Amino acid sequence: MLTNFLKISAAVMVLASPVLAQDVPAAIKAREGLMQINALNAGVLFGMAQGKRDYDADAAKAAASNIVLLASINQMNLWPEGTDAEALPGQTRALPAIWKDYPDIEEKSKAWLAAAQAAEAAAGNGLEALQAAIPALGASCKGCHDAYRGPGS
Ligand code: HEC
Repeated sequence: MLTNFLKISAAVMVLASPVLAQDVPAAIKAREGLMQINALNAGVLFGMAQGKRDYDADAAKAAASNIVLLASINQMNLWPEGTDAEALPGQTRALPAIWKDYPDIEEKSKAWLAAAQAAEAAAGNGLEALQAAIPALGASCKGCHDAYRGPGS
């Protein structure tokens, strides 16, 4: 039984290796991970603002503070040149314009941070205050995605 298992495992590993050979660069995985944490927290805020989730001051503050932290980190190592969707089709949605238009993406990033800070300040002050801060936060995501994120693969 064990020998069979080992044989099967070895076969699976051989089959899997061509996929591993075109490994997605770590920087792409990391920035997509950053965006996923961002989206998870933004989803909490959007959900409350839209009445799909009960308003909870502490949860709203925690989510907004997390987005402030995410928007504050230095992203230099997340966007190495040559990791755009033309160079690595199917591995990323990052458009080459990110590097061509640089530093415009920094402006989009600043808008995201400013909107997150406003959401953080409002989050604990009741549902209406949170709702008032949400459009700017959503617009900051969309503003950058419209300019710099291509279609999914
Ligand atoms: C400064 C630009 C910028 C801002 C601001 C921004 N994004 Fe993104 N986002 C991107 C780019 C570029 C990608 C594509 C990354 C890639 O595929 O390598 C992306 C990808 C994503 C993804 C897909 C991640 C994956 O697993 O492929 C999600 C989800 C996402 N963003 C959510 C958000 C949300 C929610 C906000 C706002 C709260 C936001 N983003 C703000 C640029 C931005």
